[in-house]
Amino acid sequence: MPVAVVVGAQWGDEGKGKVVDLLTENADVVARWGGGANAGHTLVVDGQKYVTHLMPSGVLRRQVTCVVGEGMVIDPKILLEEIRAFKKHGLLADSSKLLISRRAHMTLPHHRILDGVREQGPAAVGSTKRGIGPTYESKAARTGLRIDDLYRPDRFRKRLEANLQLLGPVFADAKDQLPSVESVIKEYLAYGEELAPYVGDASYFLNKQIDAGKNVLLEGAQGVLLDIDHGTYPFVTSSSTTAGGACAALGIGPTKIKTVIGIVKAYATRVGMGPFPTELDDAVGAKIREAGAEFGSTTGRPRRCGWLDMPALRLAIRLSGIESLALTKLDVLSGMETVKVCVAYKLRGKLLEEMPCDPEDVDEVEPVYEEHPGWKQTKADGGLDGLPETAAKYLDRVSELAGIPLSLISVGPGRDETIVKGHPFE
Ligand code: GDP
Ligand code: IMO
Ligand code: MG
Repeated sequence: MPVAVVVGAQWGDEGKGKVVDLLTENADVVARWGGGANAGHTLVVDGQKYVTHLMPSGVLRRQVTCVVGEGMVIDPKILLEEIRAFKKHGLLADSSKLLISRRAHMTLPHHRILDGVREQGPAAVGSTKRGIGPTYESKAARTGLRIDDLYRPDRFRKRLEANLQLLGPVFADAKDQLPSVESVIKEYLAYGEELAPYVGDASYFLNKQIDAGKNVLLEGAQGVLLDIDHGTYPFVTSSSTTAGGACAALGIGPTKIKTVIGIVKAYATRVGMGPFPTELDDAVGAKIREAGAEFGSTTGRPRRCGWLDMPALRLAIRLSGIESLALTKLDVLSGMETVKVCVAYKLRGKLLEEMPCDPEDVDEVEPVYEEHPGWKQTKADGGLDGLPETAAKYLDRVSELAGIPLSLISVGPGRDETIVKGHPFE
């Protein structure tokens, strides 16, 4: 069962791009299952930086087939821009190296506009304004358009008109921003032509690969704490970001999953609105933001920064059945006199080991901190033994508090800046 699921174990931007790129050295297939161009996954190889929004992070590995899977919401324009850019780098020359699910839903111009309109009103959550929420709304309302519709022009027109009619009242104030139906049809059918060589049945392909014993990695987007069901609702994204979400979206039975790896930063960040108990709204938070270059890969927004939050991490571990952690950005905390970890919350006189359900409770909790001596510098050479003693002790304590091992430690954005301890396909 060589199928591994990788999820972000916080509020996104944990370093999934870097870790997935690294773990796919021996992978045959990398599939994404959720979200869309709200994601921004960064890969740094030989000093060159790539940011992917829809393309799975296995794209730089020539042997890997990338799958843009069921459950995702695809903005075809952005996906085509990524395909063209990677082709320029000499990748994806063979169209069999990319498979786009014909069942994935599409983000249309009016979904993007609606996202922007909402973000100006009382329902704002600090979204990425990529049209993600409205696209999933159309999907759930059963009026959405799927990749398949690009190849049935009559159906595309009918569904587009019906979708627009349903959303019409919401657009009352933004009608002048809407492109005409004819121009959308023309634009999207042209995208369809360019995407055609890659479109297929992703679920079928993935199951065939799994049955053939291939190494398959399922790459999460966002983070478990942004999950539509289990996250800090309503300050969440609109899809399932837990490991179980991968099975549901891609049509892979849970019996096929070998392991789940969670990615966690050595501290915590969050973009957008919503509770964040360990947030540092001070000079220390600003220092982490600067040292960690914590600005959104998709929107460029400054990320809110804070200390590592174990009650939040424990929730993510439970929700996704995470068996080991890849800890990133340890280097960012270098130079700090002391480093804090939130080990529990206090809520109305009670001690909590796990983040509570209600976001208002999460807003109210008081973090209980443990303080650790800092370290000057981290480097990957020399493995774990090459780390300063205080950094190694911090890692041991994080693993102990999480109750699971650390399988990978990252001390910089590049492939080499990693202390690898385990491999998902071994
Ligand atoms: P993702 O959405 O989870 O893929 O994460 P992002 O790409 O949005 O943000 C993570 C950022 O941290 C990117 O700029 C990475 O290049 C960078 N990064 C990843 N791992 C490390 C690390 O160990 N140290 C440092 N300094 N940067 C890292
Ligand atoms: P990656 O995959 C961080 C956040 C947004 C907002 C909320 C809802 O790069 O980790 P949406 O546009 O999804 O409707 O916004 O979710 N969000 C992310 N935050 N990383 C991401 O992706 C995110 N994708 C969505 O900031 O708070
Ligand atoms: Mg990101």
